Amino acid sequence: MDSRHLTLSAVLGGALLAAPALADDTAVTVGMIVPMTGPVASTGKQERAGAELYIQQHGDTVAGKKIVLSIKDDTGAADVTKRLAEELIGNDHASVLMGFGLTPLALAAAPVATEAKVPEIVTAAATAMITEKSPYIVRTSFTLPQAAAPMADWALKNGIKKVVTIVTDYGPGADAEKWFGDTFEKGGGTIAEKIRVPLKNPDFAPFLQRVKDDAPDAVFVFVPSGFGAIFMKEFTERGLDKSGIKLIGTGDVTDDDLLADIGDSALGAVTTHHYSVAHDSPENKAFVEAFEKANNGMRPNFMAVAAYDGMGLVYQALEKTKGDASGDALLAAMKGASWMSPRGPISIDPDTRDIVQNEYVRKVEKRDGALYNVEFETIPNVKDPYKAAKH
Ligand code: PHB
Repeated sequence: MDSRHLTLSAVLGGALLAAPALADDTAVTVGMIVPMTGPVASTGKQERAGAELYIQQHGDTVAGKKIVLSIKDDTGAADVTKRLAEELIGNDHASVLMGFGLTPLALAAAPVATEAKVPEIVTAAATAMITEKSPYIVRTSFTLPQAAAPMADWALKNGIKKVVTIVTDYGPGADAEKWFGDTFEKGGGTIAEKIRVPLKNPDFAPFLQRVKDDAPDAVFVFVPSGFGAIFMKEFTERGLDKSGIKLIGTGDVTDDDLLADIGDSALGAVTTHHYSVAHDSPENKAFVEAFEKANNGMRPNFMAVAAYDGMGLVYQALEKTKGDASGDALLAAMKGASWMSPRGPISIDPDTRDIVQNEYVRKVEKRDGALYNVEFETIPNVKDPYKAAKH
């Protein structure tokens, strides 16, 4: 028994010592922990579908190992995430942890990954500092600074001078507020007000009245995936869609999965993000077609693509290690990996273990009766600016 099992069995108590499961050398278990219930269940559904599609398309055997995807629902509660991470490693011998629908959930698993020396692939959560919380964290989603700073550059170049920011009050919201705000002010813009709305039971209405009174050129928004429809409903109810105040933000608010529910009030919103279902490439056309076919017509969003790529990273790493699924070997193989994603070319920065990818400026438009984030400008190979500023 190695030290990983000893420490984990201490955590898990007698159950593990009494009946240790035997590791199967011919299988590699990927433990996916996502919220399948609760307010961000849409993220779990998208992530699961993305990971499963990758396996369906590429077969469940790589470098002689059978891939076993074990999906667990943490209901969005951090204590459950941590317990599931411990069980997946201690009982199921998972070689990789993957998923994590919200920043606090990714953080809850970090000490478990570090102690067990098991890679933790973050395929959803996007606060910049997450990758610094364990040397075993690798990210295939994005960072908020990566998406928000280019939005400020675009606003400055397009006659927007005064902005109110509204963000959800936790890690990624603080990142979005800071990196949009600082970049915008450095370029000569004015932030009239910075508003934060709670993550739990958010009510945007009173804040939106304040936005209306401030009469800025634009309101910059970050809400996590799944919350865009609530925000947009209240935005429309307050008449902001007809007020002449432009809606800008990171692409989380105009999530592809929610655009149909949001409806025409989203038309004209300009956002920066790394994935749109309308991204014009042969890889994305094939991905969207296969995804919709496998999921009763459900549109993939940026969460689905990140999980699809997270699974792709596991396959690529196992091929490189010739099937060696030990944590340090996999981690070394993941650092510096680069490939073509449905979102465009991506790579894992070997120094920060964070993703390097294109950011696209998009506008919500109607095509053939459906709403899309239509990309019209590309900023290539964007590194997380938070970490770039520190190096
Ligand atoms: C996060 O909690 O880090 C998070 C969740 C959903 C998003 C972005 C960030 O769309």
